[in-house]
Amino acid sequence: MGKTLKLGILGSGSGSNMQAILDAINRQELDAEIVIVLSDVKDAYILERADKAGINTHYIDCSPFRTKFPAEIQSTVADKLKDAEVDLVCLAGFMRLVKAPLLDKFPQRIINIHPSLLPNFPGVAAWEQAIKAGAEESGCTVHYVDEGMDTGPIILQAKVDINSGDTTKTLHQKIQEQEYCIYPEAIRVIASDYPPAEG
Ligand code: GRF
Repeated sequence: MGKTLKLGILGSGSGSNMQAILDAINRQELDAEIVIVLSDVKDAYILERADKAGINTHYIDCSPFRTKFPAEIQSTVADKLKDAEVDLVCLAGFMRLVKAPLLDKFPQRIINIHPSLLPNFPGVAAWEQAIKAGAEESGCTVHYVDEGMDTGPIILQAKVDINSGDTTKTLHQKIQEQEYCIYPEAIRVIASDYPPAEG
C-alpha cells in the first residue's frame, strides 16, 4: 500500500500536464495531492490553473536571468518545497535546468516529462527536432532528473507514430495526449514503492 504523495510542480507554461495530474487525482486514479505549484514566468497559465483549483502558488523571480536558474534561487525554491512538505517534485514544462542545490535537497525525488523518446532528441522543441530529422516515430518520456539535460534514469515512455502529413503542431498534440497518460501513471508507480531506497 503506497503513501498519498505530496507533489510540488514546477512549470513555465500552460500547465496542461499539471492539469492532467490534477484530473487523475480528482478521478481518484492517483493517490496524491498537489500542494504547491511554482513558476518562473509571472503570468504563466499554470499559475492561473493552480489558483483556480485552490492550490498554493509561488512565482520564482529569476530576473534578470533569461535562462539561468541561480543557485541561491534554487535553494529558496527547495525551502518552499520543504515548507510545503513535498515528497516528489514534478517538472512540467519547466524551462530552466535544475542543478545541485535543488537536486541535493530532493535526491531521487525530482522527475520530468520530456516530449521525445529519450535518449533521442533531448533539449528544446523535441517534436520539431523529430520532424526535421525525418523520424518515423517519437513520443514522450518521464524520467528522474540528474545534473544533465534530459539524461536521468527513465521511468516510463509512450510512442507515437509520425505520419507524412504530420506537422510540428500535430506531432506535439499527439505527444501531449500521451504525456497526459504517462505522467500520472509514472507518479502512481513511484507512489506504490515510496520512499525510494537511498542510493
Ligand atoms: C510538454 O510538452 C512537456 O513535455 C515539455 O513542455 C511541455 C509543457 O506543456 N517539457 P504544459 O505546460 O504541461 O502544457
